[in-house]
Amino acid sequence: MFSTRLDGIEKSGIRKIFGMADKNSIHLGIGEPDFNPPEHIAVALKEAVDAGYNKYSPILGLPELREAIVERIKRYKKDITVDNVMVTMGASSGLALSSMALYEPGDEVMVPDPGFVFYIPHAKIYKAKPVCYPMKKEHGYVPQPDDINELVTDKTKAIIMNSPSNPCGSALGKEEVRAITEICKDHNIVIISDEVYDEVIYEGEHHSFLGDYENVIHLNSFSKTFAMTGWRIGYMVSSPDIIEHISRLQYYAIACPSTPLEHAVLAGLKGPQGFIKDMVAAFKRRRNVITALLNSIDGFDCLLPKGAFYVFPSFDFKISDTDLALHLLKAGVVSTYGSAFGKRGEGHIRFSYANSTENIEKGMDIVKDAVSSLERN
Ligand SMILES: Cc1ncc(COP(=O)(O)O)c(C=O)c1O
Repeated sequence: MFSTRLDGIEKSGIRKIFGMADKNSIHLGIGEPDFNPPEHIAVALKEAVDAGYNKYSPILGLPELREAIVERIKRYKKDITVDNVMVTMGASSGLALSSMALYEPGDEVMVPDPGFVFYIPHAKIYKAKPVCYPMKKEHGYVPQPDDINELVTDKTKAIIMNSPSNPCGSALGKEEVRAITEICKDHNIVIISDEVYDEVIYEGEHHSFLGDYENVIHLNSFSKTFAMTGWRIGYMVSSPDIIEHISRLQYYAIACPSTPLEHAVLAGLKGPQGFIKDMVAAFKRRRNVITALLNSIDGFDCLLPKGAFYVFPSFDFKISDTDLALHLLKAGVVSTYGSAFGKRGEGHIRFSYANSTENIEKGMDIVKDAVSSLERN
């Protein structure tokens, strides 16, 4: 009955462990801010509904919201206009529609390993072949242009970039962004750049792939920036030609983004921005706490993340990463096993620190106790 597109498409590892957690577990599994959207955005949502903004919006999104996104994204590319912008249902729908619009059977799509759980299934659903490029610990889990260059073939259609990275917490520097862009220009490879954590950066500034290369699809979201993962609203920035093509698919997939949410997010972009700074400062404090605690537990080795809100320690216990996640779950802590993010994630475990410092400390006490009985390699 079902299409072969579903062959090999499994439930994501993040959701598997989450689904097994009980109500007393400490949640360090799913990546969502433990904050609420700022009050003025919530008020704007109610006002939009009360004012009757409950009808379909234009397919590409409200012009005034696209205009506000232009203002925000100008920091990465000065000559951007509304023709470069489409509002989406979170970065998720932007990623899915980009895959749908670009991939053909036989195409190769380069994806990070370890990388966010959508990328390989998206390639497979659209019958393209995912080709993993390594995120190596010895390079701080930052993808290396040489490694990427080596994997390019005449079938390479696109590459997915994700900086800051989920699950690694690494962030690309200006030089790597430039070198990877040059490789893609030379081989006419589309860069699909998932930059949903562009605001959640702790050292230095974020380096975007938006620049002078036409074939870049920048995906972003309000999920993390305004702590509204459940609202499902984001955006895509690309060339007018790519936007025009993908907007046709957007119509047949979702018709249009949600009108009242667009009004609320517009108020968020126009209002005070201090919330983001405070939230990121809180994440930074928690990052320092969880990294230090993990490194104080024998058997874990954890690099200090540069962005996003995940730590991705490697471990040397004589146990698989899936069994370790289950072992921790039984002890009361939800995490995600590293191989959920690709083969190179084996021997790692991901903790999200989008949780209170108190819960992080409690969670790490439990983890310390739970691993003390495990044999080491
Ligand atoms: C790297 C990355 N991309 C995309 C998404 C999905 O974002 P959205 O909520 O905007 O669909 C997530 C969510 O965790 C993510 O970590």
